[in-house]
Order: sequence, then structure tokens, then C-alpha cells
Amino acid sequence: MSQNSRLSIAFDAGHLDLPDGNVVVLRAHSDPVLNRFDTIMAVQSFKPEYDRLEQMGISVSAEIPSDADSVIVELGRSKGENLAMISRAHQMLPDGGVLIVDGYKTDGIESILKLLRKIVPINGVFSKSHGKTIWLTKSGQTPDVMRNWASAIEPRKNRDGFFTADGMFSADHIDPASQLLIAQITKPLAGMGADLGAGWGWLSHQALSEHEKIKTMELIEAEKTAIDCAKRNIDDPRAIFEWQDVTKFSGKSRFDFVLCNPPFHQSRKADPELGRQFIRKAAEILNPKGTLYLVANKQLAYETVLDETFQSWEYMAQTSQYKTIRADRPKASRR
Ligand SMILES: C[S@@+](CC[C@H](N)C(=O)[O-])C[C@H]1O[C@@H](n2cnc3c(N)ncnc32)[C@H](O)[C@@H]1O
Repeated sequence: MSQNSRLSIAFDAGHLDLPDGNVVVLRAHSDPVLNRFDTIMAVQSFKPEYDRLEQMGISVSAEIPSDADSVIVELGRSKGENLAMISRAHQMLPDGGVLIVDGYKTDGIESILKLLRKIVPINGVFSKSHGKTIWLTKSGQTPDVMRNWASAIEPRKNRDGFFTADGMFSADHIDPASQLLIAQITKPLAGMGADLGAGWGWLSHQALSEHEKIKTMELIEAEKTAIDCAKRNIDDPRAIFEWQDVTKFSGKSRFDFVLCNPPFHQSRKADPELGRQFIRKAAEILNPKGTLYLVANKQLAYETVLDETFQSWEYMAQTSQYKTIRADRPKASRR
């Protein structure tokens, strides 16, 4: 059952009654429940989900609007980001506006409910499918403690001095897997490069600062908040920033090298297939003499797809947690 199906059931059961006016859905997922609302703005900064919402014909924006008559917050995995979304949602509402928070136990919905109960009156809670839907009516100003939660999604410097915000991959520090990959690239990088799933930009930042023969470095990243941070983290005219779904990226045979620390989750589940799609995409966009530099968690099975897509490949380093791989010359059928 999807997160929004719980919402559908809660609406059908008559638990939820929204005032007239526009409904904003933060971290919206493409689910038929959104078709219930006449005036809806879905907010989604992750490009594949943004595209799916657009395909459904839903108005969608990557930016959080400043007002709404009702707001639905769909929880994700980051506590800081979840609380920030609830804070922004509450601040957006007029007195009498309705706030709905929906999420799984694994998203921390139960601790959020406990926290909210201490701060504001809750109208109701509906439990279903390992999760909960909570709703409340705004009355009075947003309490200071809740207002302060919003800062978690404002970019700030992490312990390594790079701009990041809660919710993005390895927000607190440089990812050790990416560090390992950069340390293994001893041959000079040159020409046109791409960074698939660039996050807040560390791999490209390092490559650009260590390899002067790089002409351009395209950072392709699906999470808008992360690519916006990458823009702040990299001050180099050779960098090109693209908010895009890698699996839809077209750049056939254009690149001399690709750097990649691929995502290993699709929505909630660990899913090596997404990483395999990134490897296939790398083979497609590299020129016939191009090289892919990849790092992955050791247990993820990428070897067969590397055999299928590259003339040769080798492990550069293997640790107890990670493997780094260099793959050369994509096979012709992939280009
Ligand atoms: C393992 S992280 C690596 C981030 C960064 N390269 C680093 O080393 O810190 C993978 C990144 O891929 C992004 N991502 C996930 N799915 C994507 C997709 N379909 N297209 C583009 N980027 C995606 C995630 O948002 C995340 O930032």
C-alpha cells in the first residue's frame, strides 16, 4: 500500500474534512489520492517523482509556496527534513487551516505524533498499514519551537565546510565511499566529464580541483536541494549543473569520463537495479575510449552489468565496505 492510499482510506472514512480553498502537498507522491482535490499544488524536489506528478496532470513545483488553506505533509526518512516540512506547513496556514501529516512508522511518524502532542492540539489520528495519518487545525501563531524546526532545510556548512541541508545524501560529512573513489583516480582526468547522481557536489569539486585538464564537468542530480547546494559548493566555470533524472539523461557518446557513486535506494527499498541503470547510462554517454570510475557498497552486484556494457573493467580497491571500479571502453551496442 502506498503512503497516499492510507490517506485515501482516511478521506473515504470521513475522518478528514478540509476547508474550501487550495491544498498544498509537501513531498508529494504520484498517487491517485491527489486527484480528489480541485485546487492542488504538489511540491516535490526529486525529479523522477516530479515528472510522474506532471504526467498525472497535477500542478507541481520544486519550491515550497508561502500560503495554503490546507497542507498535507508526506514524511520521508530524514527527521530534520520531516520536522522542517511540518514547520513550513504550519506557518503557511491561516487560522482554521488544516494540517495533515502522513507517514510510516519507519519514517518516525510515532515520535512525530508524540512531539506534536506536546506543542499543539491534535484533532485525530488514523492508523493503517504500518503508518499513521495525523490531522490538526491551526489555531493561533506557529509556536516558536515548531517555527525553529524550519532551519533544518536551509543550506548551511557541514563539518567539512560544504553547503548541505537535512535530507540529502551524506549531509553531515563527505561520503567515505566518494573519498575512496577520488583517492584511487591516479591517472589525470581530462576533457569532458559527467558526475551521475552528483549530490551536493563533492566528487566533482575534488575532480575539478585536482585535475586541471578537465574541460567541463556536468553534475547530474535528481534532488533539487542537493544540486542547488552543489552550485554553492563549486566555484569553477567548468562546472555545469543539471537538475535531471539520470535515467532520462541524453548525452550519447559525449563524455571522456564519468564519475559515479550511484544511489542504492529506490523510494524506500534498497535496489541495485537503479545503480545498474546508472552504469548502463554511463556506457551510453561515454565516447568509445571513455572511462567510468565507480564506487559502490561491496555487496551490490554490479559486475554482470559491467561485463555487458564495457570492453574491460577492474577493481581499483576493495575495502570491507566498498569497492571502486574502473571500466573502460563501452561496448558498441551501448552507444
Ligand atoms: C550515493 S549518493 C552520491 C552523492 C554524491 N555523488 C556524493 O558522492 O556524495 C547518490 C545520489 O544520486 C541521486 N539520485 C537518486 N536517483 C537519481 C536519479 N534518478 N537521477 C539523478 N540522481 C539521482 C541522489 O539524490 C543522491 O544524491
